[in-house]
Amino acid sequence: MQILKNDRLIRALLRQPVDTTPIWIMRQAGRYLPEYRATRERAGDFMTLCRTPELACEVTLQPLARFPLDAAILFSDILTVPDAMGLDLYFVEGEGPRFRRTLRSAADIDALACPDPEHELRYVMDAVRLIRRELNGSVPLIGFSGSPWTLATYMVEGGASREFAHIKGLLYDQPTVLHRLLTRLADTVTDYLNAQIRAGAQAVMIFDTWGGILTPTAYRAFSLDYMHRIVDGLTRENEGRHVPVTLFTKGGGQWLEAMADTGCDALGLDWTVDIADARRRVGDRVALQGNMDPAVLYANPTRIREEAASIIGAYGSGNGHVFNLGHGIHPQIDPDHVATLVDAVHHAGKPTANP
Ligand code: CP3
Repeated sequence: MQILKNDRLIRALLRQPVDTTPIWIMRQAGRYLPEYRATRERAGDFMTLCRTPELACEVTLQPLARFPLDAAILFSDILTVPDAMGLDLYFVEGEGPRFRRTLRSAADIDALACPDPEHELRYVMDAVRLIRRELNGSVPLIGFSGSPWTLATYMVEGGASREFAHIKGLLYDQPTVLHRLLTRLADTVTDYLNAQIRAGAQAVMIFDTWGGILTPTAYRAFSLDYMHRIVDGLTRENEGRHVPVTLFTKGGGQWLEAMADTGCDALGLDWTVDIADARRRVGDRVALQGNMDPAVLYANPTRIREEAASIIGAYGSGNGHVFNLGHGIHPQIDPDHVATLVDAVHHAGKPTANP
């Protein structure tokens, strides 16, 4: 078993004692970093960055060279999975992701490819192996996937959406067809995450960016149940260590108890939730990750420090807090403000700073 020099993240996710609160940042490798923009320019387009393990590794490590973050997150995208299922992903500058093919009928769903993660998504596994080699045990590597529901929204809409007309139409009009797609996706995501774990991911996170647009009943039936199946199917032990699983439903604050019931190790929180209240509700069943409003990083360093300390204070003493933003960092943020945040968290998170 390779020794992890900094294992704060894994310890906090397993609710074990730590010397200070660990922090990583959603989208920590991204456009707010000039070095990311330079590599992206060199690659030409975003998918080339994802598909070239050397470049994916390079940008994964960029934020760690600048800031003493407690984890690396694989540089990739949730939409590589539908791409590998045959939908042909591309990005339109300034407009986000698009698919050349979309799904509207049961026949479209039945025609989807069943990707073997070590073949069609081999470039992701190669990136994981390369990043682990380069990290050399300094900090853990987080792997990830989209939730079946969130992937399905992009696959059925053909890209980003505001009203989710097609997928919600399918949900209410032909629920059986949608369940067929979600079952396929849950199986594919389980294989994909297990392959990432075998390749060296030391924790995994499921991003359910669009679970929060559902009614409570639909959330359970069309999002949570499929994440539950994935949690049940994951290899939770690798290299002699437990591999923690984090579920993040953006806008899912009212369903935290049900999410904790899946048997995951941690829940990601967006900034609309009071973390003290969340902790009271889930008790010691899961760790909590979050939950600063990403927009706080527009403020001055003093305000950033105050907000970080206030979240850490609200979580309170004891184990099980991983600091993060409530969603991805915005591209306009000054990297110096990120340096301030990381320092503030490590300072305020020391048990002596928060008796
Ligand atoms: O967190 C990290 O640093 C790891 C990298 C990561 C990316 N995407 C890189 C990326 C992760 C974890 C994701 C997940 C992802 N991708 C989600 C779930 C999390 C969330 O943000 O809700 C979703 C919904 C996507 C789909 C996606 N990918 C969208 C909507 C966009 C366009 C929006 C944008 O910011 O331009 C992407 C592109 C994308 N994925 C970029 C990055 C760094 C920007 C691409 C660029 O360089 O132009």
